[in-house]
Amino acid sequence: MPSASTPTFAPQPGALTQDQLKTLVGQAALQYVVRGELVGVGTGSTVNKFIDALASIKDQIKGAVSSSVASTERLLALGIPVFDSNDVERLSVYIDGADEIDGHGNMVKGGGAALTREKIVAAQSDKFVCIADESKLVEVLGQFPLPVEVIPMATARVVRQFAAMGGNAVVRQKNGQALVTDNGQHILDVTGLQIRDPLAFETQVSQWPGVVTVGVFAFQRAQVCLLGTAQGVKTLAF
Ligand code: 5RP
Repeated sequence: MPSASTPTFAPQPGALTQDQLKTLVGQAALQYVVRGELVGVGTGSTVNKFIDALASIKDQIKGAVSSSVASTERLLALGIPVFDSNDVERLSVYIDGADEIDGHGNMVKGGGAALTREKIVAAQSDKFVCIADESKLVEVLGQFPLPVEVIPMATARVVRQFAAMGGNAVVRQKNGQALVTDNGQHILDVTGLQIRDPLAFETQVSQWPGVVTVGVFAFQRAQVCLLGTAQGVKTLAF
């Protein structure tokens, strides 16, 4: 199990909303941003809080490498320069949310459909700092539908492969049509899985023809999780 520190940011008395917890962890993540460098930036509502906080130190960093069109737009709107990942060899730190995280830093990601670019930026980063509220902490991955980015012509085959392992995969919809990712592909959301060996699962599914990215992050697992709890922000180190 991870080692947990005492809360670093104590909340005001009274219940905090999920949105307030996201704000707390977004602000707490600033301590991991290396001044004078670029920072890797994920995607989602929790990361949006981090981006807003990042704007307060934008004069102390070079800029960001972004994992989605949505994050890029938010960064640029706040005056934070965005660099192409191809122009950057290494990042010290990548900050991103998760749909689920287990006690070893393995995650399920892709609720915002940005999993492929998230995995790319995470892979070029020395440290993954996950920011999440405590509802995301699970014993075993698989409670949240698992996102998988697929090339559309492979959809039916990949659906059958998940069915063979007990999963039910459906194409994610937006406005009555299959959602199209930033990469021009589709997302399958898979329910009914218990992912007890995330590394083996990620290895297996990544090899299926037509799978662009599976939303299990075991190779690119988190080294740190800043978890928003009723007692404040807890730091889990894996
Ligand atoms: C986007 C992601 C997000 O990090 C994940 O869905 C969590 O999002 P949120 O912070 O909105 O709960 O993987 O693809």
